[in-house]
Amino acid sequence: MKTPRGERRRMSSFDIGSLARPNILALKPYSSARDEFTGAEGIFLDANENPFGSRNRYPDPHQRELKRVLSERNSIPAENIFIGNGSDEVIDMVYRVFCEPSHDRVIICPPTYGMYEVSANIHNVALVEVPLTEQFELDIDTILSHPAKVVFVCSPNNPTGNRLKNVERLLCEFKGIVVVDEAYIDFCDDPGFAGKVQEYPNLIVTRTFSKAWGLAAARVGIAYASREIIALMDKTKPPYNVSALNQEAALKALSEPGKFQERLNILLEQRGLLEVELIKLPIVRKIYPSDANFLLMKVDGANELYRYLVEEKVIVRNRHSVVPDCIRVTVGTPEENRALLQALKKYNDTI
Ligand SMILES: Cc1ncc(COP(=O)(O)O)c(C=O)c1O
Repeated sequence: MKTPRGERRRMSSFDIGSLARPNILALKPYSSARDEFTGAEGIFLDANENPFGSRNRYPDPHQRELKRVLSERNSIPAENIFIGNGSDEVIDMVYRVFCEPSHDRVIICPPTYGMYEVSANIHNVALVEVPLTEQFELDIDTILSHPAKVVFVCSPNNPTGNRLKNVERLLCEFKGIVVVDEAYIDFCDDPGFAGKVQEYPNLIVTRTFSKAWGLAAARVGIAYASREIIALMDKTKPPYNVSALNQEAALKALSEPGKFQERLNILLEQRGLLEVELIKLPIVRKIYPSDANFLLMKVDGANELYRYLVEEKVIVRNRHSVVPDCIRVTVGTPEENRALLQALKKYNDTI
């Protein structure tokens, strides 16, 4: 199965029709005049909008301009791009399109991002947990031993921070949909899998404007996948799922690549500095290598340290319940990071 020839055979036998929910395949989507008529020309009396005001018109339901720019930037056709109200909506969309409530199963690989599980519970879809190995890598053989509609993998993974190896093997051998969540991909020197969606018909790559692009408030997420998968997501989404304000915010960010790079460089530099400084503290046992904008650190007494930091008005994420003794710290501005280090030094002196 791992030979190129084997891959081709498997690809040609891949049938999206047997994975998507029958009601979604048969769905006739909501249609509006804005599907056909766009732009400022013409008198628009079709959508019961208020003719007065500056935010009075519905946004482009197909986010054409945003997709055009993303398409150009990543050399991926616009037909392979879906825009969601944050990548959390993309995750929800995967369940809506592929998972029959009370019937289908989905695989997650904990410790990982919590919304895969929450979405499964919302949709009443059974979860199979195949934990990451001790080195925080995928246990591919166990994943492959479970029949499931979808497997979610997060690379770089939240909260462990590492890129996952062997995703390609999963793409070749898993019989269902492989979602690769690349929310943090911009923080590492790796093109990720978006460029491979025309090669692997079972691949969905999710990305977001919330992290490296600095637009968490705007809620703009992306899915890259085959045309067939994108068409199913498009017809399932609410017609105006991404507001005009949010589409504009994403376009503005994309039009300022210099600013993006400058901020990214600061965050990467700060990540390095934090790593160096944190490990000097006796309460810090280990800093896990990070390909993201956060550091997972093993400490003496995670719960106590977490409570202390809250009192000091420094809010971090206590991950003790999912990775024992671990706290996850987001890389902030240089001032914020200095404040974190100062608080930790003070704590260290008092114990
Ligand atoms: C791995 C991962 N995926 C997705 C998301 C959600 O991103 P968005 O803000 O685009 O919904 C997060 C947010 O923390 C995340 O860590």
